[in-house]
Amino acid sequence: MSKPDNESLSYTDEEARRKKRMKWKIGITAFVIFQVVQALFFVLVIMKFKSPKFRISEFDFQTLSVGTQASPSFDMSFVAPVRIKNTNWGPFKYDATVVNFTYGGVQVGQVSIPKSKANFKSTKKIDVNVNLSSNALPSSSNLGSELSSGLITLNSQGELKGKVTVMFMFKKTKTSQMNCTMAINTTSKAVQTLSCK
Ligand SMILES: *[C@@H]1O[C@H](CO)[C@@H](O)[C@H](O)[C@H]1NC(C)=O
Ligand SMILES: *[C@@H]1O[C@H](CO)[C@@H](O)[C@H](O)[C@H]1NC(C)=O
Ligand SMILES: *[C@@H]1O[C@H](CO)[C@@H](O)[C@H](O)[C@H]1NC(C)=O
Ligand SMILES: *[C@@H]1O[C@H](CO)[C@@H](O)[C@H](O)[C@H]1NC(C)=O
Repeated sequence: MSKPDNESLSYTDEEARRKKRMKWKIGITAFVIFQVVQALFFVLVIMKFKSPKFRISEFDFQTLSVGTQASPSFDMSFVAPVRIKNTNWGPFKYDATVVNFTYGGVQVGQVSIPKSKANFKSTKKIDVNVNLSSNALPSSSNLGSELSSGLITLNSQGELKGKVTVMFMFKKTKTSQMNCTMAINTTSKAVQTLSCK
């Protein structure tokens, strides 16, 4: 065997080994990057437990009757569209609760929300019948002056407690508060503004 042949053989050997090492390095680096990205996605996106949103959306009245400034009263019925928006990457199972409707801090009606769940990244829709009346209001309430302005302001409050489960095993308890304020126009007999916190 001649020397140059030998040299060129070992040179190609060396070249092949170098390429192989390079391939391994690239492969391992890619794998590590993939693992890091996956872990970051898991921690920053999937494991980020958020409180679902608990609110009432716009509705129409079935009945609405109001008294006068001198003899203030109201009676109303409507179907309240209660919405539980779950933005988590897993279902939110909640306990039964109530939504209180108040006027000037005094309860004028209450509805029950049965125990159920809001699925992965979805909004649970519950339509409940509501009847509200001013019977419980003290005579000192400012319903009379609100009636003369043509707008009455109601509030709805509730607290929803439940558990979010992601990846079938990671659970976290979450509580959502409802605090909505609605202004009702007694002339048009409609909800004029509705805002929830
Ligand atoms: C609400 O009032 C309507 C009549 O105005 C009545 O038919 C209905 O049963 C009442 N619903 C509740 C939950 O009290
Ligand atoms: C709703 O009213 C009930 C009493 O009827 C009270 O125990 C409950 O704490 C109230 N819930 C909220 C969220 O205000
Ligand atoms: C609900 O929101 C109103 C203002 O819109 C605020 O005055 C009130 O304190 C809030 N109630 C709760 C229980 O957070
Ligand atoms: C109530 O609604 C009527 C008709 O839509 C409107 O003309 C009136 O300005 C509203 N009242 C108030 C207090 O905004």
